[in-house]
Amino acid sequence: MTIPTYDTIILGAGAAGLMCAAIAGQRGARVLLVDHADAVGKKILISGGGRCNFTNLHTAPDRYLSANPHFAKSALGRYTAQDFIALVEAYGIAWHEKTLGQLFCDGSAKQIVAMLQAECDKGGVTLALGAPVGAVDHGDGLFRVEIGGRIAAAPALVIATGGPSIPQMGATGFAYDLARRFGLKVVEPRPALVPLTLGGDETLFRSLSGVATEVVAKTGKTGFREAALFTHKGLSGPAILQISSYWRHGETVGIDFLPALASGWLVAAKHARPRATLGGALDNHLPARLAVTLADRLGLEGELGGFTDKRVSEAERQLADWRFSPNGTEGFAKAEVTAGGISTAELSSKTMEARKMPGLYAIGEAVDVTGWLGGYNFQWAWASGYAAGLAI
Ligand code: FDA
Repeated sequence: MTIPTYDTIILGAGAAGLMCAAIAGQRGARVLLVDHADAVGKKILISGGGRCNFTNLHTAPDRYLSANPHFAKSALGRYTAQDFIALVEAYGIAWHEKTLGQLFCDGSAKQIVAMLQAECDKGGVTLALGAPVGAVDHGDGLFRVEIGGRIAAAPALVIATGGPSIPQMGATGFAYDLARRFGLKVVEPRPALVPLTLGGDETLFRSLSGVATEVVAKTGKTGFREAALFTHKGLSGPAILQISSYWRHGETVGIDFLPALASGWLVAAKHARPRATLGGALDNHLPARLAVTLADRLGLEGELGGFTDKRVSEAERQLADWRFSPNGTEGFAKAEVTAGGISTAELSSKTMEARKMPGLYAIGEAVDVTGWLGGYNFQWAWASGYAAGLAI
């Protein structure tokens, strides 16, 4: 008979695993927190350009993608952005709102990692770092995990190993393999918050690499008004990263290049300055290289006054809904997060425990809950980690 050495083993010392370990430890559980990396919270350290966009003031369930849009409600409701801000402030970490409710450290992401480590220390959490995780078994009410050649056992096991985005940082699909082994379904993982690539006729836009402008990027009924950036592979920038999470292969992405202008602006511009060219009219509102490229592609050569209002209106309509047909994304290597993951249908939304396998929990990015860009993904990691930390 194996003697349980811990009450809980948490696999993955990232954002969710650290939060879960701290909460469970502080509630008196004997916690082993395991990571194959040699340090905790590596993604936190590189996040937000090194300043960690640790939450978003506008956190709400409708800013998350999941096969079950209601799943995140419970955890997000019980551990809010304000709760994390209170923790940050208790540690004297200065922060600021950058834009759109996105909160960043004034100093460094290292402060967030140090804070979470201190919270784990308060809970007496045992760390096993640089430890490859081997076989994981379950029997007699205990999970047995081979860690660096030794076996640890506990009645509860938390999967917090994240998703496969940025594999060069040690990210793996381990969570999915483990979940499947215990009979849990996995929603097909796909790169999200990721640049889109253009091919075919649209490779012409690559010559605009480096040009950025505010747009509304749309797919279906979803749209984001933020900056888009042309790259040497296609499209990036916050508006594109946001829409990439909703985009599916084969779909187009609509770009409104002039979201600030009222309907009818181009016809009005034609009447005001009939001798102006389309390029000239666009040049007032868009970066020069982009204005030239779009005007060329619309084929309205010469003075605007030489075209009918109908033709000019049609050009305006195209500028407000320019259809790009991405041929893919830049993949997991460049994706900020992974959409899809362990199916929420398998988990309790209150505790994150697997319905079919009591004692098994899944939290953070490993689960099929994916936030918008801007601190939403960390807030999910904190909230889901907190929910499981209270339950184990
Ligand atoms: P996370 O990936 O943080 O942790 C998983 C841990 O499991 C890692 O420590 C890993 O080493 C470990 N692991 C993996 N496989 C293992 C195995 N087989 N055995 C043992 N250990 C294993 N979000 C946000 O809200 N604001 C932001 O500013 C940013 N910025 C950002 C920048 C960049 C470049 C990236 C790639 C991502 C972001 N994100 C973000 C997203 C955010 O980092 C992400 O959603 C969370 O880190 C997810 O937390 P988890 O704890 O679920 O996984």
